[in-house]
Amino acid sequence: MASTNANIWGLQDPSLIKDQSYIDGKWVSAKEGGTILVTNPATDEELGTVPEMGLEDAKSAIAAAGKAFASWGKTTARHRHDILMKFYSLMQEHNDDLARIITLENGKTLTEAKGENAYSASFMEWYAEEAVRTYGEQIPSPFTNIRNVVIKQPVGVVAIFTPWNFPSAMITRKLGAALAAGCTAVIKPPPETPFSALALAELSRRAGVPDGVINIVTTQKNVIEVGREMCESKTVRKVSFTGSTPVAKGLYGMAASTLKKVSIEAGGNAPFIVFDDADIDQAVEGAIACKFRGSGQTCVCANRIYVQSSVYADFASKLAEKVTAFKVGNGLDATTTHGPLIHEKAISKVTRHVEDAVSRGAQVLVGGKRVDGVGAFFTPTVLSEVPAGALFNVEETFGPVAALTKFETEEEVIALANDADVGLAGYFFSRDVGRVWRVAEALEVGMVGTNTGLISHATIPFGGVKESGIGREGSHGIEEYLNQKLIAFGGI
Ligand code: SIN
Repeated sequence: MASTNANIWGLQDPSLIKDQSYIDGKWVSAKEGGTILVTNPATDEELGTVPEMGLEDAKSAIAAAGKAFASWGKTTARHRHDILMKFYSLMQEHNDDLARIITLENGKTLTEAKGENAYSASFMEWYAEEAVRTYGEQIPSPFTNIRNVVIKQPVGVVAIFTPWNFPSAMITRKLGAALAAGCTAVIKPPPETPFSALALAELSRRAGVPDGVINIVTTQKNVIEVGREMCESKTVRKVSFTGSTPVAKGLYGMAASTLKKVSIEAGGNAPFIVFDDADIDQAVEGAIACKFRGSGQTCVCANRIYVQSSVYADFASKLAEKVTAFKVGNGLDATTTHGPLIHEKAISKVTRHVEDAVSRGAQVLVGGKRVDGVGAFFTPTVLSEVPAGALFNVEETFGPVAALTKFETEEEVIALANDADVGLAGYFFSRDVGRVWRVAEALEVGMVGTNTGLISHATIPFGGVKESGIGREGSHGIEEYLNQKLIAFGGI
């Protein structure tokens, strides 16, 4: 039987904590009765358990979503707008509680968690406003007796897979679009942070989302069979995923069996370039925001920081000074600036990257190792003289390590930046308008930040090129959940 440690949460509205999954409007345990243990990465304390759902549970969730689509898909856009706006208001009303849940299960600071909840809610508002603007088209026909009209219709049931680094926002970025378009959803949240997903399900119920429109399947050990069912079931018409590139490839392959629509936001390994004409203080601020957001655990975090040789020493010392002042700790503590990593596996990966770079000649300016004791903490780190062959250049680190590499020319750094299989975000700092255009156009990424380290917002087309993904979220992302249909009117 699933359970939660009620004393730990400390919420104003304790009924937001659910220890069961949500299928067809009901809170349910796993058919086979298993559970998943969820712990706080800052304290190792047990937060509670949620159901370990299996294949039969996934089938029930998909069937419920299929049944609900018959009516939800026919509601008016205005009706869906109103429900999404109610959902948005409820997320704001419960901001403190939702943020606390994020901090307790993910580890990020309460300030960051509040920021995530605001970001997450903003997708509901954005897509509510998009719902009522999913216009069709009338296309002039080459024949006098034909009129061509294009309408847009929801794709159907959507399978949504989300990561632990944004326990709430990566759900609403997909779910908001799906609901606005008239789709129904089966969501598989990550086993590390399921409570935020379940709290959102509770708020959806309060907002008036009908039974079966949103279904949550929590799973860990059974993830392969549950994931396969969500990708291969003929009832599901679209798969939307945020997570690592290797997992994305697996799901994409499964979804290919029924030629489903897919949206994928996968790994990043973002380049961050500081040119010698940059405002160095601004570049340092940008690097802090971009590299250390979520303790370095975002897909758009800078992973490779390239600094032009004449400003290298200045940038490195200013960055090191700022990073030394960080205070790592429990995200509930008001003095903490940076929380833990998600788990020991994450610590091992970051350690491997640091050790690899050091073995190749990199110098540790700040940090460089895990914090001993309770919780998955890694000291915020700045490495200097990281050579081109280091692991930082090959795979995403997903941790609080700024890896600095010196470069000489614009041409050289563009080649270094583009020497990656992935291309999600890229950043650079320069005050030369010609260079700004040249470099922005040359970077092989889906999103460029020039003179800023923060780009994320509901209004932007979020997504990548190369092995970073397919499709865009936010902005006009509702289109990914709609099919166009031509209706040719003849005999006129
Ligand atoms: C991600 O890490 O996948 C998303 C980051 C963001 O939305 O800014």
